[in-house]
Amino acid sequence: AAVRQVDFVTGAVSMDTLPPPITTEVAFVGRSNVGKSSLVNMLCNRKALAYVSGTPGKTQQFNYFHVNAKDQESQFYMVDLPGVGYARVPRPVQEAWIRFMEQYLQYRTSLRLIFHLIDGRHGAMTDDEQLMRLIAASGRQKGEYVVVFTKMDKMDKQKLKQAVINETRSALSRNGCRSDTPIVISSSSTRLGRDEMWRHLQSVLVS
Ligand code: GTP
Ligand code: MG
Repeated sequence: AAVRQVDFVTGAVSMDTLPPPITTEVAFVGRSNVGKSSLVNMLCNRKALAYVSGTPGKTQQFNYFHVNAKDQESQFYMVDLPGVGYARVPRPVQEAWIRFMEQYLQYRTSLRLIFHLIDGRHGAMTDDEQLMRLIAASGRQKGEYVVVFTKMDKMDKQKLKQAVINETRSALSRNGCRSDTPIVISSSSTRLGRDEMWRHLQSVLVS
């Protein structure tokens, strides 16, 4: 799991503005402020590749990062998506984003892995369940959809309530996702979960 090079490619705002696909891409989805951009930076060992902010709604485009562009074998796109469910974004704008996301999940055939980030302190919220339905509708195979609990440094790992895991599992099944969907426990500050996420990445890169 060596990132030798990362280049920003483009910020897409619609299906027509997506960059031409390369063999594999991996997307980070979830509610606003859950820690998507932070996790992209952590996985790439960069401090400020993707913009991070304490204010929700920071990422406004589908931001494409090309990892290892010079190496056919290990290159792929990492896509940092805008957050869903930010109340201060007007409703029609939110709905337009959801439609774009729906089409993206459905038709972007080079998309081989979706990391769905959920705050480990709260578990799946209404917006997460909506995402689960979109993801289920896009027909993911085993290993192509992974749930990631974020900000686990903010809570005692022991205190991660079994209830939160159970609720997330039932949300997954209620919304049509596979019962064997992996759940990774992570923190961008302590780098918890990094190896596990890279294992999931690696397995879609070689297959
Ligand atoms: P949007 O682009 O608005 O959708 O947000 P995002 O999901 O990209 O979240 P971002 O990475 O910008 O992080 C949001 C806030 O959470 C920032 O203040 C981060 O510093 C903080 N944060 C992210 N990950 C962690 C983490 O693992 N631990 C802690 N303690 N804070 C984190
Ligand atoms: Mg972001």
